[in-house]
Amino acid sequence: MSFTAQQTIVKQHIESMGQNIDNLSSSFYTHLFRINPSLTHIFNGGISMLTRKFNNMLATFKSVHDLHKISAALESMAERHVAYHAEVSHFDDFNQALLLALEDTCKEDFTPELKLAWQTVFEEVANIMVEVLRHAPKAEKKSGATTESSSLLIDDIGGTEVVTRIHQRFYDYLYEDAYIGSFFHHRAKRLLVRGQTEFMVAAFGGENHYKGEPPAFIHMHMFITQEMSDIREIYLRRAILAEGMSDGICQRWLEVDRSFHSSLEKKSVDECVMRVWGQAPFTVKKPAAYQPPKS
Ligand code: HEM
Ligand code: HEM
Repeated sequence: MSFTAQQTIVKQHIESMGQNIDNLSSSFYTHLFRINPSLTHIFNGGISMLTRKFNNMLATFKSVHDLHKISAALESMAERHVAYHAEVSHFDDFNQALLLALEDTCKEDFTPELKLAWQTVFEEVANIMVEVLRHAPKAEKKSGATTESSSLLIDDIGGTEVVTRIHQRFYDYLYEDAYIGSFFHHRAKRLLVRGQTEFMVAAFGGENHYKGEPPAFIHMHMFITQEMSDIREIYLRRAILAEGMSDGICQRWLEVDRSFHSSLEKKSVDECVMRVWGQAPFTVKKPAAYQPPKS
């Protein structure tokens, strides 16, 4: 069976799992930490944080339909794994834990055909990542304990409703921007606010209702520069402060947001990866008289 056919099986399997994904996630980490206890230092954070990370990884296996075309996006994702302290040997631990978790969670539904499909897809993706990691310089050692604050950011912000209000304001600003606003004009603002909120609530340690792809994939065809990220951040800060958040909360929010920047910023349009055949990179033009927002 071709890789594409195997990948379709895996994608459908993930989609059929529904709420069982949470069980899969906890079983995965239980096996992973038993197989290699040192990985608790790499996958740190509370349950919801871990579930979000797991969901991001799982979403990769859903998105690699045309492996050949998105290998560039996978390579840059692998480069980011250097900073996450992933090492080549961890991929075997990961693979074992994933298969055991699938067996535990899906029981007799995890047929030999399904197992083979998962193995094939995992191996192909892992091979691309491992190849990059083999040639990448090692990241600096982690300085002991996690830097996460002891209280959950989502609680300190005041819950999902506050995040929604801030995002409504944020997207109002973004849509008005004469430059980066053009990225959003044909999208329903309400849906973006909802998606962004679900994603960030999970990233802040709250419940994960986000069902979309990881930001790296959503934005892979968009030519987003660092300048655009900086402009976006000015609006985000403005929206957070306008809803009465303290400077401290604002800093913590922006730190989480920034952790995704490197996965979507590009230095040149050639780094864009197309989602479907024949698609052109999504670029926007800076108007000659453009005035960036004041920080
Ligand atoms: C084929 C296997 C893997 C896939 C497809 C995968 C995919 C992903 C994706 C898509 C993310 C979201 C962040 C981003 O896009 O940069 C992520 C995060 C992460 N990955 Fe992987 N990964 C894999 C294997 C591993 C391994 C072996 C490790 C280390 C043991 C690892 C450690 C992490 C950590 C710690 C994060 C969270 C980063 C953070 O949010 O702080 N991954 N992974
Ligand atoms: C200048 C920077 C950025 C631009 C221009 C941009 C642009 C966009 C656009 C156009 C979409 C809609 C995609 C579609 O409907 O096909 C989108 C979706 C999304 N973006 Fe960004 N983005 C930026 C930065 C970020 C960052 C830093 C994050 C994460 C912290 C993020 C998270 C998301 C998420 C989660 C969605 C999906 C929302 C949903 O499910 O509807 N974006 N982005």
